[in-house]
Amino acid sequence: MQNVIWAMKDIGAAVSRMSDSPIHGIKHWGQVCSNAIMLMQAEQVESVVPIAFSYLHDCLRENEDEDPKHGERAGSLVLALKGTLLKYMDHNDVGILANACRDHSKGMVIHPICSSKVTGICWDADRLDLGRPGVGIIPNPAFMSTETGKALARKQVNGFAKATIG
Ligand SMILES: [Fe+2]
Repeated sequence: MQNVIWAMKDIGAAVSRMSDSPIHGIKHWGQVCSNAIMLMQAEQVESVVPIAFSYLHDCLRENEDEDPKHGERAGSLVLALKGTLLKYMDHNDVGILANACRDHSKGMVIHPICSSKVTGICWDADRLDLGRPGVGIIPNPAFMSTETGKALARKQVNGFAKATIG
Protein backbone atom coordinates (compact mmCIF):
# COMPACT_ATOMS: atom_id res chain seq x y z
CA MET A 1 0.00 0.00 0.00
CA GLN A 2 2.77 2.46 0.96
CA ASN A 3 4.47 1.88 -2.42
CA VAL A 4 1.26 2.76 -4.25
CA ILE A 5 0.90 5.93 -2.16
CA TRP A 6 4.46 7.03 -2.97
CA ALA A 7 4.07 6.21 -6.69
CA MET A 8 0.78 8.11 -7.01
CA LYS A 9 2.06 11.05 -4.98
CA ASP A 10 5.09 11.27 -7.32
CA ILE A 11 2.87 11.26 -10.43
CA GLY A 12 0.52 13.90 -8.99
CA ALA A 13 3.38 16.14 -7.89
CA ALA A 14 5.20 15.76 -11.23
CA VAL A 15 2.25 16.95 -13.33
CA SER A 16 0.67 19.48 -10.96
CA ARG A 17 1.27 23.23 -11.14
CA MET A 18 -0.42 23.58 -7.76
CA SER A 19 1.04 20.80 -5.61
CA ASP A 20 2.12 23.38 -2.99
CA SER A 21 -1.40 24.76 -2.71
CA PRO A 22 -2.77 24.35 0.83
CA ILE A 23 -6.27 24.07 -0.70
CA HIS A 24 -5.94 21.69 -3.65
CA GLY A 25 -2.34 20.43 -3.35
CA ILE A 26 -0.47 17.59 -1.65
CA LYS A 27 -1.86 18.37 1.80
CA HIS A 28 -5.42 17.86 0.52
CA TRP A 29 -4.42 14.76 -1.49
CA GLY A 30 -2.93 13.21 1.66
CA GLN A 31 -6.10 13.88 3.67
CA VAL A 32 -8.23 12.36 0.89
CA CYS A 33 -5.95 9.31 0.99
CA SER A 34 -6.36 8.97 4.80
CA ASN A 35 -10.13 9.29 4.37
CA ALA A 36 -10.09 6.71 1.58
CA ILE A 37 -8.16 4.17 3.68
CA MET A 38 -10.55 4.66 6.60
CA LEU A 39 -13.62 4.35 4.33
CA MET A 40 -12.24 1.18 2.70
CA GLN A 41 -11.68 -0.41 6.10
CA ALA A 42 -15.18 0.53 7.31
CA GLU A 43 -16.85 -0.57 4.04
CA GLN A 44 -14.70 -3.73 3.75
CA VAL A 45 -13.36 -2.77 0.34
CA GLU A 46 -9.82 -3.44 -0.83
CA SER A 47 -8.62 -1.51 -3.88
CA VAL A 48 -5.77 0.67 -5.09
CA VAL A 49 -8.22 2.91 -6.98
CA PRO A 50 -9.13 5.25 -4.07
CA ILE A 51 -5.41 5.66 -3.28
CA ALA A 52 -4.63 6.59 -6.88
CA PHE A 53 -7.71 8.86 -6.99
CA SER A 54 -6.51 10.74 -3.90
CA TYR A 55 -3.30 11.85 -5.58
CA LEU A 56 -4.60 12.34 -9.14
CA HIS A 57 -8.13 13.79 -9.01
CA ASP A 58 -7.03 17.43 -8.47
CA CYS A 59 -3.51 17.24 -9.95
CA LEU A 60 -4.45 19.11 -13.14
CA ARG A 61 -6.32 21.97 -11.51
CA GLU A 62 -5.40 25.29 -13.05
CA ASN A 63 -6.74 27.51 -10.27
CA GLU A 64 -8.26 27.37 -6.77
CA ASP A 65 -11.73 28.50 -7.78
CA GLU A 66 -13.94 27.61 -10.73
CA ASP A 67 -12.18 25.01 -12.85
CA PRO A 68 -15.00 22.79 -14.13
CA LYS A 69 -12.76 20.83 -16.54
CA HIS A 70 -10.16 19.73 -13.98
CA GLY A 71 -11.86 16.38 -13.43
CA GLU A 72 -11.97 15.65 -17.14
CA ARG A 73 -8.29 16.52 -17.47
CA ALA A 74 -7.45 14.15 -14.60
CA GLY A 75 -9.55 11.37 -16.16
CA SER A 76 -7.78 11.83 -19.51
CA LEU A 77 -4.40 11.78 -17.75
CA VAL A 78 -5.27 8.43 -16.13
CA LEU A 79 -6.15 6.95 -19.54
CA ALA A 80 -2.95 8.39 -21.05
CA LEU A 81 -0.88 6.73 -18.31
CA LYS A 82 -2.62 3.36 -18.70
CA GLY A 83 0.20 1.68 -20.60
CA THR A 84 3.11 3.29 -18.77
CA LEU A 85 3.02 4.57 -15.19
CA LEU A 86 -0.26 2.80 -14.40
CA LYS A 87 0.59 -0.41 -16.25
CA TYR A 88 0.53 -2.53 -13.09
CA MET A 89 -3.10 -1.59 -12.50
CA ASP A 90 -5.89 -3.85 -13.62
CA HIS A 91 -7.60 -2.54 -16.81
CA ASN A 92 -10.99 -2.45 -15.10
CA ASP A 93 -9.49 -0.46 -12.21
CA VAL A 94 -7.97 2.07 -14.63
CA GLY A 95 -11.42 2.60 -16.14
CA ILE A 96 -13.04 3.06 -12.73
CA LEU A 97 -10.26 5.47 -11.71
CA ALA A 98 -10.54 7.52 -14.92
CA ASN A 99 -14.33 7.84 -14.55
CA ALA A 100 -14.09 8.64 -10.82
CA CYS A 101 -11.61 11.45 -11.58
CA ARG A 102 -13.65 12.72 -14.55
CA ASP A 103 -16.92 12.96 -12.59
CA HIS A 104 -15.73 13.75 -9.06
CA SER A 105 -16.83 17.40 -9.00
CA LYS A 106 -20.20 16.97 -10.71
CA GLY A 107 -22.15 16.51 -7.47
CA MET A 108 -23.05 12.93 -8.30
CA VAL A 109 -23.48 9.95 -5.96
CA ILE A 110 -23.15 6.34 -7.03
CA HIS A 111 -26.13 4.18 -7.85
CA PRO A 112 -26.18 1.61 -5.01
CA ILE A 113 -26.81 -1.33 -7.37
CA CYS A 114 -25.29 -0.32 -10.71
CA SER A 115 -22.13 1.50 -9.63
CA SER A 116 -18.91 0.37 -8.04
CA LYS A 117 -18.65 1.14 -4.32
CA VAL A 118 -14.99 1.96 -5.05
CA THR A 119 -16.16 5.07 -6.95
CA GLY A 120 -18.32 6.10 -3.99
CA ILE A 121 -15.35 5.74 -1.66
CA CYS A 122 -13.27 8.01 -3.93
CA TRP A 123 -15.91 10.74 -3.98
CA ASP A 124 -16.76 10.47 -0.26
CA ALA A 125 -13.06 10.64 0.66
CA ASP A 126 -12.75 13.91 -1.27
CA ARG A 127 -16.02 15.44 0.00
CA LEU A 128 -15.22 14.62 3.64
CA ASP A 129 -12.36 17.15 3.31
CA LEU A 130 -14.61 19.99 2.10
CA GLY A 131 -14.44 21.64 5.52
CA ARG A 132 -10.71 22.38 5.17
CA PRO A 133 -9.45 25.98 5.39
CA GLY A 134 -9.90 27.78 2.10
CA VAL A 135 -12.99 25.75 1.16
CA GLY A 136 -15.01 25.71 4.39
CA ILE A 137 -18.02 23.73 3.19
CA ILE A 138 -19.73 21.33 5.60
CA PRO A 139 -20.22 18.05 3.69
CA ASN A 140 -23.86 17.23 2.93
CA PRO A 141 -24.79 13.62 3.87
CA ALA A 142 -27.13 13.57 0.84
CA PHE A 143 -24.07 13.84 -1.42
CA MET A 144 -22.29 10.89 0.16
CA SER A 145 -22.35 7.52 -1.57
CA THR A 146 -21.44 5.14 1.27
CA GLU A 147 -23.12 4.58 4.63
CA THR A 148 -19.82 5.40 6.37
CA GLY A 149 -19.50 8.61 4.35
CA LYS A 150 -23.05 9.63 5.24
CA ALA A 151 -22.45 8.96 8.96
CA LEU A 152 -19.19 10.96 8.96
CA ALA A 153 -20.82 13.85 7.10
CA ARG A 154 -23.69 13.86 9.64
CA LYS A 155 -21.08 14.08 12.41
CA GLN A 156 -19.52 17.13 10.75
CA VAL A 157 -22.96 18.75 10.34
CA ASN A 158 -23.81 18.10 14.01
CA GLY A 159 -20.40 19.37 15.15
CA PHE A 160 -20.90 22.56 13.14
CA ALA A 161 -24.40 23.06 14.59
CA LYS A 162 -23.09 22.60 18.15
CA ALA A 163 -20.22 25.03 17.53
CA THR A 164 -22.62 27.60 16.05
CA ILE A 165 -25.42 27.30 18.62
CA GLY A 166 -22.98 26.89 21.51
FE1 LIG B 1 -10.27 17.23 -4.09
